[in-house]
Amino acid sequence: MRLVVLGGTRFVGRAICNAAQRRGYDVVVFNRGRSGPPPSGALAVRGDRTMVSDLRDLAKLIDERGGADLIVDPACYAPSHALMSARILKDVAPEYAVVSTVTAHSQWPEQPVESGSPIYETGITDGPSEDASLYGRLKAGVERAVETIYGEINTLVVRPGIVLGPHEDLGRLPDYLRRAARGDGFVVGGEPQTWFQYVDVRDLAEFVLTCAETGRPGRYDVVTQPGEYTWGDFAQAVSEVAGGSPVFVPDDRLLAADVEPWRGLPLWVPESPQTAGLWAVDGKASYDYGFTARPLTETVADTWAWLQKEGPDWRPTARVAVHGIDAEVEQELLRQAQAL
Ligand SMILES: NC(=O)c1ccc[n+]([C@@H]2O[C@H](COP(=O)([O-])OP(=O)(O)OC[C@H]3O[C@@H](n4cnc5c(N)ncnc54)[C@H](OP(=O)(O)O)[C@@H]3O)[C@@H](O)[C@H]2O)c1
Repeated sequence: MRLVVLGGTRFVGRAICNAAQRRGYDVVVFNRGRSGPPPSGALAVRGDRTMVSDLRDLAKLIDERGGADLIVDPACYAPSHALMSARILKDVAPEYAVVSTVTAHSQWPEQPVESGSPIYETGITDGPSEDASLYGRLKAGVERAVETIYGEINTLVVRPGIVLGPHEDLGRLPDYLRRAARGDGFVVGGEPQTWFQYVDVRDLAEFVLTCAETGRPGRYDVVTQPGEYTWGDFAQAVSEVAGGSPVFVPDDRLLAADVEPWRGLPLWVPESPQTAGLWAVDGKASYDYGFTARPLTETVADTWAWLQKEGPDWRPTARVAVHGIDAEVEQELLRQAQAL
C-alpha cells in the first residue's frame, strides 16, 4: 500500500504515518516543513496546500510520486482547501480519508450522538476562519467537499472524540500529568462519576488503516463507549503514573474562581443542558468495523513516558492549545477543598 498523508508531522497525522510504516506501507508526506521533520523513512514533498490561487504545490504529488492507494487528510480545517486537494489528487489515488471530529455533528454537545446523527450544513467552498466556534461547521464542510469529488463510496470519514496519547500537541493530558507530578494534589473539575470519553491516537490511526485496507468507506465516530470510563477513572490513571491525589472541585467553585472551561482546566465544562451530550457519543459502528481501544491506563502511562522524555521545556504547540489553570488559583482551590 502507498499512502499520501497531507501533513503527518504533529499528532494524528504522525500516528497514522507511524502505524502505516509498521504495517509496511510506503508513506509520502506533504507539508511545508515547519512542524518538524518527516517520519523517518517517509518521502517528504514540500508545499503549502492553502495556496488556492496556485495549484503547483499539490500538483507535485502527481508529477513526482506517481500514484498512491489512499490520500489521508488528517488536519484540514477549511472546505475550500479540501475541495482543492481532492480535485487535484483524484488522479493520484482512488480513495480519500478525512480526519474530521465529533464536533461536526450539529446537535453535539447539547445532545448525544449516534451513527447517522446530522452534521452541519456547511458550504463546500467556505474558506478558513480564525473563529474557533466555527470549527465543527468547517470540518463538516471538509467532509462534504471531499465526498463531492470522490463520491461517498470512495471517501472515509473518521470523526474522533477527544484524542489523547503520546505527542498530543494541545497539551490536555500533559497538563493533568504535570500538575499531578508536583505531588501536592491536582484539581479536576466537576464530579468523579461524570462520564469521560476519548480515543487513543494510535488506536485511531490503526482504525483508519484497517478501513483503508478493507476498502471500507463510510463515516465513523471514533471514541470509547459512553459510560466505559468516568472522570474518576481518568484522574486515578493520571495519579497512578504521575503522583499526587486528584481533588474534584465542583463546577460552581471553579466558575467562582474564574477558571476558564475547556482550555483553562482542560476538557472541563460545567454541567448544563447545553452540554448534556458531551460525553455521550456512540461510536459503536466503528467497533463493529474493527476499532479496538487500548485501556485508558495505557494511554495515560505512555503519554507520561513520552512527556518525561520530552523534558520540562516541552510546550503544547497546537493553535488551540490549553492555557492551563493559574497556579495560584489552583493552590487556593486545593486549600479550600482541604478546609472543607
Ligand atoms: N486533538 C483532538 O482532541 C481532536 C479531536 C477531534 C478531532 N481532531 C482532529 O485531529 C486532527 C489533528 O491533526 P494533526 O495536527 O495532529 O495532524 P498532523 O498531520 O499530525 O499535523 C498537521 C500537519 O499539517 C501540516 N500543515 C499545516 N498547514 C499546512 C499547509 N498550509 N500546507 C501543507 N501542510 C500543512 C503540518 O506541517 P507544516 O506545518 O510543516 O506544514 C503538519 O504536518 C485535526 O483534523 C483535528 O480536527 C483532533
